[in-house]
Amino acid sequence: MRTLGRELERRLERIRSSGLYRSLEDASPEAVDFCSNDYLDLSRDPRLRAFLIERLEEEAAVRPVSAPSSRLLRGNTPHHRLLEGKLARFKGTEAALVFPSGYQANLGLLSALMGPRDRVVSDRLNHASIIDGIRLSGARKIIHPHRDPEAVRTALATPHPRGRTFLVTESLFSMDGDIAPLDRYADLAEEWGADLIVDDSHATGLFGDSRGSGLTEHFGIEKRAAAIVSGCGKGLGVAGAFVAGPRTVIDYLVNVCRSFIFTTSTPPLLLYALEAALEIIRSGAERRERLLELSRRLRRQLRAQGLDTLDSAGPIVPVILGENRRALAVARRLREQGMDVRALRPPTVPSGTARLRISVHANHTDEQLDRLCRVLAEALEAV
Ligand SMILES: Cc1ncc(COP(=O)(O)O)c(C=O)c1O
Repeated sequence: MRTLGRELERRLERIRSSGLYRSLEDASPEAVDFCSNDYLDLSRDPRLRAFLIERLEEEAAVRPVSAPSSRLLRGNTPHHRLLEGKLARFKGTEAALVFPSGYQANLGLLSALMGPRDRVVSDRLNHASIIDGIRLSGARKIIHPHRDPEAVRTALATPHPRGRTFLVTESLFSMDGDIAPLDRYADLAEEWGADLIVDDSHATGLFGDSRGSGLTEHFGIEKRAAAIVSGCGKGLGVAGAFVAGPRTVIDYLVNVCRSFIFTTSTPPLLLYALEAALEIIRSGAERRERLLELSRRLRRQLRAQGLDTLDSAGPIVPVILGENRRALAVARRLREQGMDVRALRPPTVPSGTARLRISVHANHTDEQLDRLCRVLAEALEAV
């Protein structure tokens, strides 16, 4: 019998030969960040750093800086309650619950709300954490073509007398950068008695005229969704996640959601950073407006160069290149020129759609975007 090591080497060789091998690469601090989800550049914001230091100094004297225990034991602090109240008001819902990550939030939420008697209508391009949450729930899944309300209608209209029906979608799709028709989905869910769950992670902090809380605000459906998931390691610039929704849903999660119950509490340290991020977002819309303007500018330029940026509409700008090795080679050339752009390959994106995923940030300059387009054109010529 083969040893495990030899067996794994063989499997890795297969991954290598399909151009899908991955290794961890340090982020170069000098390169311009066109890769992370820190769209508003909050991770580098001096106000966030100052607030965090001040809070730590104030609190460290009287309270522990972390809460290494689950929330239902000693891991609950007044900061959790305070921040969750602020997050609920931000998102426009009755209540909110913080999770250590978006992956855990989706996994726990979906497997808590749905069971084998239920069915779930899910977009073909939903994030892996949604797919895994659905799998764990045992619900019957109906995968519909990407952003297709007519297909959703057909799925919802099919009778399902046994259990509940859920409709689950991302709002701003993480890989294609396009936007789900959330208002249509909310109407359809209500028409057919389904419960709508939205992963608003990539839109949080970027969309919504009054609070900037996301696309659920932009479409005015915050109170029509059964639950809204927001990752905090994207526009909010920190890490962690929260689920927002009706009080009953949140109370139910506290009692039933395994990825919330059986894990260490999110440390107050992270909560201070999130509080600061919320404050900065609340203080004005200029930053998100600038971000969306820059995104439109980049997309216009790339399309003028004849590149396929799909139907993207926010700061995630995909450039479809098709073949894995080509996408890798172009991304490498851009990094050699000081621009941190990464190639995405299957299984992260569908086979044959390897791409650059350019992430625009509010602090990018017009010159940086112009240079990116120029170097990209050269790299495409050369590869
Ligand atoms: C749409 C979406 N949901 C959930 C997640 C998972 O969030 P986290 O990174 O906080 O685990 C991601 C990506 O990271 C995502 O793109």
